[in-house]
Order: sequence, then structure tokens, then C-alpha cells
Amino acid sequence: MPWLQSFPNPVHSMFKNFTDLNKEFFGFIQNKVDEHRETFDPEVTRDMSDAIIGVIDKADNDNGLTKGHTEGTVSDLIGAGLDTVSTALHWILLLLSKHPDMQTKLHELIDKVVGRDRLPSVEDRNSLTYLDAFIYETMRFTSFVPITIPHCTTSDVTIEGLHIPKDTVVFVNQWSINHDPLKWKDPHIFDPLRFLDKKGCLDKDITNNVMIFSAGKRRCIGNQIAKVEIFMFFAILLHQSRFEKRDNDDLSLNCSYGLTLKPLNYKITAKVRGNKTCETACPVKEKPIYK
Ligand code: HEM
Repeated sequence: MPWLQSFPNPVHSMFKNFTDLNKEFFGFIQNKVDEHRETFDPEVTRDMSDAIIGVIDKADNDNGLTKGHTEGTVSDLIGAGLDTVSTALHWILLLLSKHPDMQTKLHELIDKVVGRDRLPSVEDRNSLTYLDAFIYETMRFTSFVPITIPHCTTSDVTIEGLHIPKDTVVFVNQWSINHDPLKWKDPHIFDPLRFLDKKGCLDKDITNNVMIFSAGKRRCIGNQIAKVEIFMFFAILLHQSRFEKRDNDDLSLNCSYGLTLKPLNYKITAKVRGNKTCETACPVKEKPIYK
């Protein structure tokens, strides 16, 4: 009944907010793509938008992609890659502050491998396996994408004796895979060392068991770039700062629930790390971080 639409309806207004936000986001992307098109140079790929313009706009495509797909592709990648990576970093900062002993070990390692005269780079990754182990354990322990995007079976299917009829909505419960006591020792304990072998190398068999990018044909296409992004942010933040909880603050692991699980608002202190001589000579600069 159309007259019912005059009554306040929280679902309706939520949906309207969602569509308005999407329109604003798409407008933002459209402007960025236009700016990139105006200054595009096929010899120089400045970022992901340039790469996509180069492949879709400027190439002779016989794959059905047209200029109109460029904005959609850029917005898919930014939409899928921003909130996920920033949520991972929120958890990493919280867990670093909660485990000062681990943070000290990470600082010692990064100072040994990178030193104080330059910033960490991707080339250091193989020597900083404890950082990657910390990232994998953050992904497993928090399982901040607890269930995947819903998909639908296109035909009847039987998996390990379980029959799933056509047109059934299917999710992967990533949280449960990451906390399965048959697969993980003490799954509720945060322990990055579970991913390192006796020589301190990442154990690929164990890291492959972390389920955060989903599985199958529609699994995340950005998983490699996400791991590099998180590694670089994490390594540079660690190299430059020490993160500490504030007095008597236990830093809750409770989260707010959405497509991703986010930590509740927390306050920590970031202390800028100088080089060794500076650290003893000058007082540590303290800067509270508010979220
Ligand atoms: C830690 C960071 C990330 C996590 C945990 C994550 C996780 C996921 C998950 C669970 C899915 C759903 C897969 C499914 O439908 O079953 C997905 C899809 C997707 N992700 Fe990521 N993602 C991350 C970062 C990124 C980044 C950085 C990009 C792009 C640069 C990206 C691009 C995509 C795209 C395009 C899809 C849709 C794939 C499709 O529908 O076929 N993701 N991601």
C-alpha cells in the first residue's frame, strides 16, 4: 500500500543512506578516473587506475570490456581493498599494544635487518618472517571477515556426502575454519610463532590454512596485493614508532559487527622511535592516537 511509505521505516532510510553513499563514492571515483585520463601517459603507470585505463580504455579489446567498465572496475578494487586493509591495520595496532613483549621482539628484528638509516622495503620481507607471522596470526585470530560474500549454487551438488540443492545460498564460515581445534593448537591464543618453523621460516602448509580471502572461483583477487600492503604499512609503522596501551586500559578484543569485524574504539600512545643516539639524547616524543 503506497500510503504506508509515509511512515518512518528504518530499513527504508538505511537503504536510502546506502544508495546515497554509493552515488557519492561513484562520483568520487568518476572524477579520479577523469583526472587520470586527462594526464594519462602510456609509458608511466602511476597507480592501479592508470593500469586499468591502460588495459580497458586504451587497448584494442576483444574481450567485451569497454570504456564504460573502467570506473566500475576501479571502484570494485577500491571498495574491496580499502576497508579490509584498514581493518587489518586497526587490529594489528591493537594487538601490538596488547603484546609489548612481541613488539619488542619485532623491533629488535627490524633494527637488525633494516637498521635505522633507511625505511623497510618489500625486499626485506624474506628476512622479516616474524612480521608476516604476526600478520597471519592477526588474520586467523581475529578472522575479521568472519563469513564470506554469499553465493548461490547453480546446480545440485554433493560435497563430502553433503547434498546442497540448486539455488541454495552458500557462505564460507571463515571464523570457524580459523578456530577449528582439530587444525589449530590453542586456537583462542594469539601466537604468531605457530607459523614459523625451527629455522624461523614461514611454514607455508600452516599459513595456507588461514582462511580470510575465501575459496573457490570467487575468492579475493587482491590477496597478494593486500598482504604486501599490510606488510609495508606494518613494517614502516613498527620501524618508526612504538605503540603502547594507556594506563589500566586492558584493550578489549570485542568488536563491532558488519561485513568486517572491527575492534571497538580504543586509545593507544604512539612513541616515535629515534635512532639509537637520538633516543638517549632526546626525550621520546609522545603522540596519543585517538580513534
Ligand atoms: C586483508 C585484506 C582483504 C581481505 C581479508 C579480503 C577478503 C575478501 C573476501 C572474503 C572476498 C569474498 C570472496 C567471495 O565472494 O567468496 C573478497 C573479494 C574480493 N576482493 Fe578482497 N580482501 C582483501 C583485500 C583486497 C584488496 C586489497 C583488493 C583489491 C586491490 C581486493 C579485491 C577483491 C575483489 C575485486 C573481490 C571480488 C572477487 C569476485 O567477486 O570475484 N581485496 N575479498
